[in-house]
Amino acid sequence: MNKSVAIDGPAGAGKSTLARQLAQRLGFMYVDTGAIYRTVALYTMRRDIPPEEVVPELAGLDIQVEYDGQGVQRMRLNGEDVSEAIRAHQVSRRASQVAALPEVRAFLLDFQRRQALEHSVVMDGRDIGTVVLPHADVKIFLTASPEVRARRRLLELEQRGQSARYEQILQDIRDRDRQDQCRSIAPLRQAEDAVLLDTSGLDLEQSLAAMLEIVHGRQDT
Ligand code: DC
Repeated sequence: MNKSVAIDGPAGAGKSTLARQLAQRLGFMYVDTGAIYRTVALYTMRRDIPPEEVVPELAGLDIQVEYDGQGVQRMRLNGEDVSEAIRAHQVSRRASQVAALPEVRAFLLDFQRRQALEHSVVMDGRDIGTVVLPHADVKIFLTASPEVRARRRLLELEQRGQSARYEQILQDIRDRDRQDQCRSIAPLRQAEDAVLLDTSGLDLEQSLAAMLEIVHGRQDT
């Protein structure tokens, strides 16, 4: 019987790093659902079309998700590996916009559920515990203050050699929080049965330890 751990929370809470490490520790597959929305967003940017114009093209989109032997998820768009390109700052904004389109969410829902049927997964996103996997064995809502999240995002971008301003990132994070929380379909919110983990004062190691404690406390994983 496959197990599932759902991790939701706002941008920059450390979800992807922590979810990946948690998956490794548990021997589960890590599914980064944000990367899939980002790939749809990149497609609209490359085609130079507004977000909503992707809807009639969804069925024909050539988007593939691959997992290497280390459990790292790679995204392909029209055969090209776009795993790095989708991390660009501009793609984040566009991803939030395409993610607000009900047709895009419906299209990606099946894919996400299939992954959890076929494998034990740690899946991260915004609506995993509430919509995608409402019966997940463990649900964690990971958050941190906007300022802490902005500082982490800045560091991440700098490490990738991209330049950005702290104030701009903080503003973007606030805008994205609003957009992700206020959209009418599958808004970002904590599932009733999710455990809240605020990582503002925790480093990665402490956060991972807290997550493992939650997982082991909730089930015999
Ligand atoms: O986690 P991320 O920053 O890579 O996500 C990119 C965008 O996609 C984010 O603005 C919210 C959206 N998203 C979503 O709506 N639902 C998900 N399950 C995952 C991401």
